[in-house]
Amino acid sequence: MRDLPSIRDLDVKGKRVLCRFDFNVPLKQGFIEDDRRLKESLPTIRYLKREGAKIIMMSHLGRPGGTKVRELSLAPVAKRLSELLDSEVKFVGEIVGDEIQKISEELKEGELLLLENTRFHPGEKGNDIGFSENLAKLGSIYVNDAFATAHRKHASTYGVATLIKEKAAGFLMLKEIENLSKLLKGPPPPFSIVLGGAKMKTKIPVIKNLAPLMDNLLIGGAMTYNFLNKKGIDVGDSLLEESLLPEIEEVFPILRDNNVNLYLPMDLVITDRIEERAKWKVIPVGDIPCGWKGVDIGPKTIQKFREIILESKTIFWNGPMGVFEISPFDKGTLEIATAMGEATKEGALTLVGGGDTDKVFTGSDIELSHLSTGGGAALLFLSGEELPAISILKEEVR
Ligand code: 3PG
Repeated sequence: MRDLPSIRDLDVKGKRVLCRFDFNVPLKQGFIEDDRRLKESLPTIRYLKREGAKIIMMSHLGRPGGTKVRELSLAPVAKRLSELLDSEVKFVGEIVGDEIQKISEELKEGELLLLENTRFHPGEKGNDIGFSENLAKLGSIYVNDAFATAHRKHASTYGVATLIKEKAAGFLMLKEIENLSKLLKGPPPPFSIVLGGAKMKTKIPVIKNLAPLMDNLLIGGAMTYNFLNKKGIDVGDSLLEESLLPEIEEVFPILRDNNVNLYLPMDLVITDRIEERAKWKVIPVGDIPCGWKGVDIGPKTIQKFREIILESKTIFWNGPMGVFEISPFDKGTLEIATAMGEATKEGALTLVGGGDTDKVFTGSDIELSHLSTGGGAALLFLSGEELPAISILKEEVR
């Protein structure tokens, strides 16, 4: 396998370049709520434009299940990209077929075409060879800049890359790999990892992989209750991922053997209903009454977590500390975000995984060393796994 080829190594002038981006942005009634993933894709698009490529862009949006779902059309993305680039983005609502083929062949240097949501096609998720071949006909060069989807072995992220000889990673893909790799290569100690949210299945492999390098593991959010439960502490009606409880059992000796300090919350915010204006109170861990559930870390825990973050030289954070969509259960998450910003100013290396956690930073001026666009992709990368959409770029087409 060769090294990962970079977009800079390609001669794209006058060529049709088929690019996979991750334009999977949150939409509300046709409006893009957060266009960060589009903005992060601009360096690659602008570079290709400047270099005189004919640019054919593709992405998925949501999970339409292989069928056309009007609300998940990429039409609003085409419009927003046109505004951001101050340039027309052609969009006809098709993915493959005669019309798209013709438009792609008639593109002039620097012109842009966006295909419709690749997941409208049943062949996308199954990495179907026929669909991959039809996509591959649209370009003579393939660029993948969709780090956030690099853990998916789909036709547009993988199948097409087995068919096009000239291919490379775009600037966002390269930036993500460069930054996240710092955590795998023995980052400056003390190295602390803060994990929250649910979906423990994607986080336990990160703990296992990074345990030899990390000094502190801070657990908050929905993960807390699983860890407390395993320690024999009653968690009332809090959310548990029962099927993963045996896996947590394996984590304790790994942390012990690697001298990792484990910090679980000392106090919690609890409520009897997860909704605005619900009753809530702060209690010490272990005092959750029946019928109540934990929804945030408490003030003593916030204070402790802040101290550890500010004493660290490297911090990786993924997953909210509570139900941060609902105030006041967002306090723990916001305080951790603020501490991350302060640590950055003090010179620490601060990285945050995407998914839910990046929403905390939307519209804020908190500075980080790196805010990943990837949720699941970033976690899999930090678990030490090769992401299929990255490894296929390194393989030569025979
Ligand atoms: C994401 O938002 O994590 C990526 O766009 C991948 O989306 P998916 O989980 O639906 O494959």
